[in-house]
Formats: sequence, structure tokens, C-alpha cells
Amino acid sequence: MLQITGLTVKYGVGVHALQDASVDVPEGAVAAVIGGNGAGKSSLMRAISGTLGFHAGRVVEGSITYDGRNLAGLSPQKILRLGIAHVPEGRRILGEMTVLENLRAGGAIVRSTRKRVNALQEIMDRFPILAERRNQRAGLLSGGEQQILAIGRGLMSSPKVMLLDEPTLGLSPQMVERVADTIREVNASGVTVVVVEQNAAMALGVATDGHVIERGRVVLSDSAAALRDSPDVRRLFLGGDVDEGLGLDAAPASLATLTRWSA
Ligand SMILES: Nc1ncnc2c1ncn2[C@@H]1O[C@H](COP(=O)(O)OP(=O)(O)OP(=O)(O)O)[C@@H](O)[C@H]1O
Ligand SMILES: [Mg+2]
Repeated sequence: MLQITGLTVKYGVGVHALQDASVDVPEGAVAAVIGGNGAGKSSLMRAISGTLGFHAGRVVEGSITYDGRNLAGLSPQKILRLGIAHVPEGRRILGEMTVLENLRAGGAIVRSTRKRVNALQEIMDRFPILAERRNQRAGLLSGGEQQILAIGRGLMSSPKVMLLDEPTLGLSPQMVERVADTIREVNASGVTVVVVEQNAAMALGVATDGHVIERGRVVLSDSAAALRDSPDVRRLFLGGDVDEGLGLDAAPASLATLTRWSA
């Protein structure tokens, strides 16, 4: 459904955020993208949603196709209209606005009033926490609830693909579980999901497929089950005791990864 082929992304004149990255996301999948700090995960998401330009970045090589259609040069609005919704890093909830206003903002791109109303109703039914607090300021929700709101806002455009960038960052274990359940529900409703995570255990727990990015390169792609069992992945990302096996790449990136992920 989503095919990223040989993608190279740059910021400004020098920084290569991704190099020759290829990822295939089949329809109905939950694809987990895991990797350390600065590996290029958010850049991949921005490239797909056409939002690299907001960050002074650009695709310099490679292609992204969605249902066989090349997304090169399309505006973020167009890509959203085609059915790809991006829930960015840091949630970007409008804290001063109500839950309802935040959700409506997510549906602003939808031309048909009937579709907007139906989408809103569906989200209210699916996430009672949002329905109960619809008239409260979004800034009063807990971090986990804000993440559910961000996902709900993304669903307002009735996407076929949802890109989730670090949805569990900073959440308590209980809220992490809740977000994981939400991802499963969204996928069960027919939405293909790409989830970028620092929490590899969560991501590989909900995913069908997984991809490991190190320093801009996709170094491993396999089923989520195979990655969960992989000694390298366990050692680097899941805090396992496995101490044999080869590193995925050179040591420095792995050390950087461990520093961030062992917290
Ligand atoms: N707006 C920007 N301008 C310049 N360089 C950037 C910009 N955004 C990201 N980069 C660089 O591109 C590389 C990849 O960054 P990216 O944000 O994609 O990584 P990430 O895997 O999402 O990291 P994190 O886990 O910290 O969110 C890093 O070297 C980063 O410093
Ligand atoms: Mg990121």
C-alpha cells in the first residue's frame, strides 16, 4: 500500500537524515519503525506526509508511492486528502481549545459536512474519554488522554493510513498500554498504521512488521515476531540479556541507542 524506495532526505545543505531507505507497508499492517535518537524516524514520517518542507528538509532521491501513486511534489493537504494522516511527534494539541475544537480542526480538510459529522460521531463512540470531556480545554487532559485526542484528531479525516510519531513518549506504563490498545483498535477498524517509537517493546507488541533504522539507514526489516526474537533487537532495544550476536552496525550508533533506550 505504501512503498518507500531508496529514499534519501536532507536538511539544509549538509545533514543527511535518511539514506537509501526502503520500507514496504502492506495494506492492513501495523509497521513499527524503531531506532535511536536522531536515527531518521521522524524524517521518514515527514517525507511520507509531505511535511519535510516545514522543517527545511527535502527528498533528494528515491520515491514514495501510495496505492501505486507517486507522492512526489504533492502538498501535505493533498496527501492528507488521499488518505494519509500524520500524528506528529509531541502531539501538538491546541491546549487552549476544547477537545471538540481540536477534533474539528482535524476534520477541517473534509469538504462534506455529513462526512465530518459522521467521523466525529464515530470517534466520540469509540473514545468515551473524548466524549465525556468534549467541552473541556484539551490542555487539562493527561498526557495519555492528549495522545488519544491527537489520534482522534487524525482519524477525523477518515484516513486509510495513519502515521504515528512516538505516541507513547513520556507516558506512564498504564497509559502506554492504553495507547497500544488504541493503535490495535484503529488498525482493526481498517486503518494501516506506521508507528515510530522509542518504546520498541510497545511498538513490536502491536506491530505486524518492524523496521530498524540506524543513522539514516534501514538496517533490518522483518515480521514483528521475528524482530522480537532477534538477539540484536533484544540486546539493543528490548533490554534483553542476550549478549552474543553481531551488532546491527558500528558500535557508536548502538551505544547512542542504548543510552537513550535504557532509561
Ligand atoms: N529541521 C531539521 N534541520 C536540520 N536537521 C534536522 C532537522 N530535523 C532533523 N534533523 C536531523 O536529521 C537527523 C534525523 O532526525 P529525525 O528527527 O528524523 O530522527 P528521529 O529518529 O526522529 O529522532 P528522535 O528519536 O530524537 O525523534 C538527525 O541527525 C537530526 O539532527
Ligand atoms: Mg523523531
